[in-house]
Amino acid sequence: MTSPLRVAVIGVGGIARTHMPGWQASPHAEVVAGADINPRVLQAWGAEYGVTRLAERIEDVLHDPDIDIIDVCVPNMHHAPIAIAALEAGKHVICEKPLAPTPGEIQRMIAARDASGKLLMTAQHFRFAGVSQAMKREIDTGALGEIYHARSWMLRRNGLIPTPGFVHRSLSGGGPCIDIGVHVLDLTLWLMGHPKPVAVSGVARAELAHRPGAFSAWQSAPIPTTFDVEDFASGFVRFENGATLVIEVSWLLHHAIEGEDMQVWLYGREGGAHWPRAEFLSSNNDTRQLYNRTLQLKRDRMEPHALECVEFARAVAEGAPSPVPPEQSLQVMAILDGIYRSQQAGREVSIDL
Ligand SMILES: NC(=O)c1ccc[n+]([C@@H]2O[C@H](COP(=O)([O-])OP(=O)(O)OC[C@H]3O[C@@H](n4cnc5c(N)ncnc54)[C@H](O)[C@@H]3O)[C@@H](O)[C@H]2O)c1
Repeated sequence: MTSPLRVAVIGVGGIARTHMPGWQASPHAEVVAGADINPRVLQAWGAEYGVTRLAERIEDVLHDPDIDIIDVCVPNMHHAPIAIAALEAGKHVICEKPLAPTPGEIQRMIAARDASGKLLMTAQHFRFAGVSQAMKREIDTGALGEIYHARSWMLRRNGLIPTPGFVHRSLSGGGPCIDIGVHVLDLTLWLMGHPKPVAVSGVARAELAHRPGAFSAWQSAPIPTTFDVEDFASGFVRFENGATLVIEVSWLLHHAIEGEDMQVWLYGREGGAHWPRAEFLSSNNDTRQLYNRTLQLKRDRMEPHALECVEFARAVAEGAPSPVPPEQSLQVMAILDGIYRSQQAGREVSIDL
């Protein structure tokens, strides 16, 4: 077997830790370096995972000829510049979601990918959950027929990380649209087979975050008054093939389910489906019977955040396509950007991809 691909993780904070079990389990890759602007966090991460090449300047790993893969785990606004620099330095790049908070940046990342001939993948971990994989296989057999409508939401009751990387637009690019909208929208479009979006009408507003004492149930500190993103958004999307989608996202909502409520409903001419229940619904008009069946799922062999790293390393090693192509992330971001543009314009806006 050839020697493993050498990985450098840039930004070794919260999410980077969820990638480590995947890199450790991969037969194709090993983490040999880490970079972070925070020396305390960097040293603690290095000690925990036995990584000794630690850099406070990301250029030191970007230009290290020993590194094959860069794992980008920094706040959203740094994704595009770091990923583009890494691709230009001849590295393969796996990048946390959102790939970038604007469609324009993603287009520049795709151009850098094309110029480099390397792989670029968005870390959309929900695709790698066993339930998602099983449902995708079933849908691809034609179980739903043509999907003509979808509803999806990711709603949290007082559930947000009130740190600058999430609640300051200059670092995050936006609120729950950008943070969790990318998750549920990526999953929905992937299950739908990626129809081309052509128009969106939406709203994106801060309805509760600025009320006195507004709080996140996840932290004792109140939501900072410098919060300058939306806390709620909703959109109605039209696709070129006539299909439609309704999406809702929020970090703060008086919503009945505690914690997080993430669901996707898909409606096709032959049947419907629900994620994450892995439930498929259909009917027989001749016998007037209604059918509900639930896919039998095996236990996930690995946590999806880890599995996405395993699959990326496998794709690089085998010369396979990116498991989450950036072109698909561009569609996701074009819709979310359309929601913001529609909020400003007060009407439906077109999506030109
Ligand atoms: N897939 C998921 O479920 C999920 C969950 C949480 C966060 N994320 C994404 O992961 C990314 C990071 O979020 P997090 O929660 O890990 O944040 P975090 O603050 O815990 O970690 C980010 C780390 O990056 C470092 N950093 C910041 N700017 C840097 C720079 N220019 N160069 C090098 N290091 C830098 C910080 O010092 C910090 O250690 C975000 O894009 C976020 O959207 C994804």
